[in-house]
Parts: sequence; structure tokens; C-alpha cells
Amino acid sequence: MDRILIEGGVQLSGEISISGAKNACLALMPAALLTRQPLTLTNTPFLSDINTMRELLASLGCEVAGLQNNRIITIAADKISNHIAKYDIVRKMRASILVLGPLVAREGKAVVSLPGGCAIGARPVDIHLSALQAMGADLELKEGYIFAEATRGLQAVDYTFPVVSVGATENIVMAATLAKGKTILRNCALEPEIKDLCVCLVGMGAKIQGAGTPTITIDGVSELTGNTHSVIVDRIELGTYMLAPAISGGEVFLRGGRIDLVESFSKMLSKTGANVTALDEGVLVKGSTDGILPVNISTEPYPGFPTDLQAQMMALLTLSQGTSKLEENIFENRFMHAPELARMGANISVEGGTAQVVGVASLKGAPVMATDLRASISLILAALAARGQTVISRVYHLDRGYENVTSKLSACGAKIKRISS
Ligand code: EPZ
Repeated sequence: MDRILIEGGVQLSGEISISGAKNACLALMPAALLTRQPLTLTNTPFLSDINTMRELLASLGCEVAGLQNNRIITIAADKISNHIAKYDIVRKMRASILVLGPLVAREGKAVVSLPGGCAIGARPVDIHLSALQAMGADLELKEGYIFAEATRGLQAVDYTFPVVSVGATENIVMAATLAKGKTILRNCALEPEIKDLCVCLVGMGAKIQGAGTPTITIDGVSELTGNTHSVIVDRIELGTYMLAPAISGGEVFLRGGRIDLVESFSKMLSKTGANVTALDEGVLVKGSTDGILPVNISTEPYPGFPTDLQAQMMALLTLSQGTSKLEENIFENRFMHAPELARMGANISVEGGTAQVVGVASLKGAPVMATDLRASISLILAALAARGQTVISRVYHLDRGYENVTSKLSACGAKIKRISS
């Protein structure tokens, strides 16, 4: 397994281009199942999760082509030859559940493996299922699979999500585009990736109102057309790299970064003393010259502080001049980076969903292990500031959501390299 080596203590200076959003792409790709015509996505990130979704769609009979070094993906689902999303693919990537809604809507049936466990929490899919049942789908759970059928097609519904769920909102919006009648979905998630999906669906002929608001209305149509859609920029990658100059010192320009997608995060980062400036073509971040100030974070659904940036912010706060409190309210086990940061000298105590971080004067490089996608990048951020060498193992977690990390950071002067064992 590959490892990443970082010699810390280098101030960063340079430019990083922000890629297309993994979490937008993972919802946009299954949307291709809703039409017989090709769906072309541009600005797609080159990530292992995207490859897994390509593999899954191909296993259903879709023709999936990657062009221009996979920055463009075309998916043609004119014939769906298989309605089973198998466990050996689904277990690799939970967003595979997003083929369920489109398959049932288009084909009237689907057999999708339950995603199984996840490092950061139980992450059930009960809301996806209850909403589909409310639309008239017959569901049965058997041998680890979801058997779904809607032989007379899905019916429109007025449904309120019991919990704000990104994936459930995406799955049911896609399903409703082909349902009979007007579907009203309430308590929807507001993440920008959902709005991006709706823009693409409308471009395919769907009739959707209220994208990006808590209530989304979808007037079902008999069929959708193909489309060409550019994937929205990745706000989580942006926030992650905004933290790089904040923790290492120096100044980095995040080309393509949209400050409007990271407002609550950016406000918190500024409170730590970093200098954040929105420019025409991106975001400029300068590390504080007077030390890092402690802040208290509480993760919330968008537009609140994103859970996907909690681990990364924790890395910064390990070096603050005081004590910070981080509350993780979305997932039940998302502090696995804490003991690894502690190996580097961080002073963190975790009690249930709350972590207390007492800032230390410096971190020391050490061998550490990546445990999940966002934890892995938080270790890299800490290593950039730590004295000495850090070796990070299990970096396959990183490849799921961050492309070209070593080249993006070394272009800003970081002493970072990847070694294959
Ligand atoms: C999406 O996951 C993202 N993944 C996650 O990013 C992100 O952390 C999460 O939204 C929250 O913003 C993708 O978009 C592919 P949820 P999702 O449904 O849709 C509970 C990353 O690092 N829930 O909004 O799975 C759930 O347990 C990943 O890129 C149910 O109880 O998240 C959680 O507590 C990690 N039943 C809460 O809702 C359900 O049926 C929010 O989860 C569904 C969810």
C-alpha cells in the first residue's frame, strides 16, 4: 500500500486549482439512468469513488466513456441490461445507493445491495426507502439487498424528510422526475450539490422548482433527454486547501474556488486569524502572522459548518493559542483522526460527539494512519506544520476524494512525496 511522506515546517506559497465536486458528480452520474440519451459531464474529478460509480453504471449495462484524461465522462443508458447493483461494488462506495431511485423510476424495478457499514457511522438508508415506499414502490430487504418494484410506475407524493439527508434528497428528486403527478418534498437538504443536480435534471427536461430550498416541487414527465453539464467546483476540497496556508503559514491562491459555497467555514477560518480574500477567479488565503486563535465549531447541514471539513479544521486548531471545542452533530464516529493527531503531539480529548482541542506550541512528525477520507487529509495538513517527517499509511482513503494531492501541495513548496510499497 502507498504511503505519503511529508517534511513539515515549510511555509506555502503558490496556486492550487480546485477540481469538480466528488459529491456532485456521484449524484449526477446516476441521473444518466433516467434517460435513453447520453449524459455528458464535464469538469469531473479523477477519483477512485468516481471510477467505482463508473464501474457500477457499466455493470447495469450503461456505456461509460472517459475523455480528456477523464475530465469528461459520457454515460449512455439507452439499454439497461442488468437491474442488480452488486454488493462487491456497492460496499466500496455508499453513494451507490443513488442508482436506486433512478432505476425504479425508469425501469420499475431495482435490486440494490445495502451499503453496509462505514467508518464514520451507521449511515442507514431508511429515509431513502421510506420515501420510495411513499411513492408506491414495493420494497423488500432480503439477504443484504433491497428489492424494489413499481410496476405501475412511481406516484407523486407530498413527503417530508424526517431528517435532513443529502443522499435521500438526491435519490427522491431523481425518482420524482419520472413519477406521475406533482411531487412535493419538504425538509430537503440544501447542499449546493443538490442544486447542481437539479440544474442538470432541468437541462434534461425535468420540471423542478425550489432547488436549494427546503421545499422542492417536481412535476413528473414521461421521459427525459440527454444533456451536457459542467460539475460544480468542490467546496470541500476548497475548504481543505484554504487550511493549508493557515496551518503552514504563507499564502495560497485557490483557483476556481467559490467563496459563496464555503461561507460559514470561511467565517470560522477568518476567526482563527487567517486572512481570506475572495477574488474574481478564486480565493486567496494568507496564514496568520500572529498565531492561530481558538474557535468553537458545531457541524450542521448546509449552510452550517460542513461535517466534511471538521477533521481538517481540527488539525489547524491543534496549534491554536487556546482551547477549542468541536461538536460533530451529523455522524456518530467522525473523530478517528484525533488519536492519530495525538501521535503528532496534539492535545485532544473526545467525549461522545464533542472534541476538546487544547492548542500546543508545535506538532512533531510521526508515522500515522489514515482511517477515512477526511481524516486522511487532516493528517496531511497537520504534517505540513509539524517539525520533522510524517509518514501517512493507508492513503487509499485519500484517493477516494482528493486528486493529485502531492502535486497540488508540492507546487506550493510543500516537501511531500508518495511512495509505493
Ligand atoms: C453526503 O452523505 C455526503 N456524501 C457526505 O460526504 C456528507 O458528509 C454528508 O452528505 C453530510 O453532508 C455524498 O454526497 C456522496 P446524509 P449522505 O444522508 O447523503 C442520517 C465525504 O466525506 N441518515 O445527509 O450519506 C445519516 O446517518 C462524505 O465526502 C439516516 O438516518 O449523508 C446522517 O446522520 C462523507 N437515514 C444524517 O442523516 C438515511 O436514510 C445525514 O446524512 C439517510 C441519512
